Amino acid sequence: MESYMNRISNTGIVPVVKILEKEDAYPLAKALLNGGIDVIEVTYRSEHATSAIQTISEQLPDMLVGAGTVLSVEQAKEAVEAGAKFIITPGFNTKVVQWCLDHDVEVYPGVSTASEVEMALSMGLTQLKFFPAESSGGAKKLKDLSAPYANVHFMPTGGINTKNMHDYLSLPNVEAIGGSFMLPNDLVVAKDWDGIEALSKAAIKSLLD
Ligand code: 3PG
Repeated sequence: MESYMNRISNTGIVPVVKILEKEDAYPLAKALLNGGIDVIEVTYRSEHATSAIQTISEQLPDMLVGAGTVLSVEQAKEAVEAGAKFIITPGFNTKVVQWCLDHDVEVYPGVSTASEVEMALSMGLTQLKFFPAESSGGAKKLKDLSAPYANVHFMPTGGINTKNMHDYLSLPNVEAIGGSFMLPNDLVVAKDWDGIEALSKAAIKSLLD
């Protein structure tokens, strides 16, 4: 199975995107890309996820496209057929994980407890999403989880922004952080792509500070 984690880790930030209108997919992804973010998690929180994955994959080849908030095998299948390179689930969904493993598709399931980490380990997975990060104990919890599970790497999301990103990124078991802070809903509704590009640049700048 090809791993995209190195590429995600190099970028350091994964925007968690909800496409409100079908035609937003290209300009929104382009704004992120212009802002220096070349990875995107298109979530199944809107009916436009599959078409957005397809549009971005076809029209912005420099963008690494994954599908997020994948809650069923059907969605995982649809996402991969549309061009998604990886699948992210908010919780530990055994059926989705098994489908991905059976089809050589990279999957980062969500976990927030030691028991869920062990479920992932029992299926051979060591690259996981930590969700919802802030309300599950934040960076402190991830630090504590690194003691028994030193070989497990996380992508925390949920409540992360430029102020607290370094709490996570400074941990050796964190590969990248995810979130929607560079694309707040009001900017997406207003189709303020320049604003999203500026926030993306600011996010990358904070990452390097
Ligand atoms: C996710 O699914 O990863 C989160 O909903 C993103 O969290 P945020 O909107 O608090 O950044």
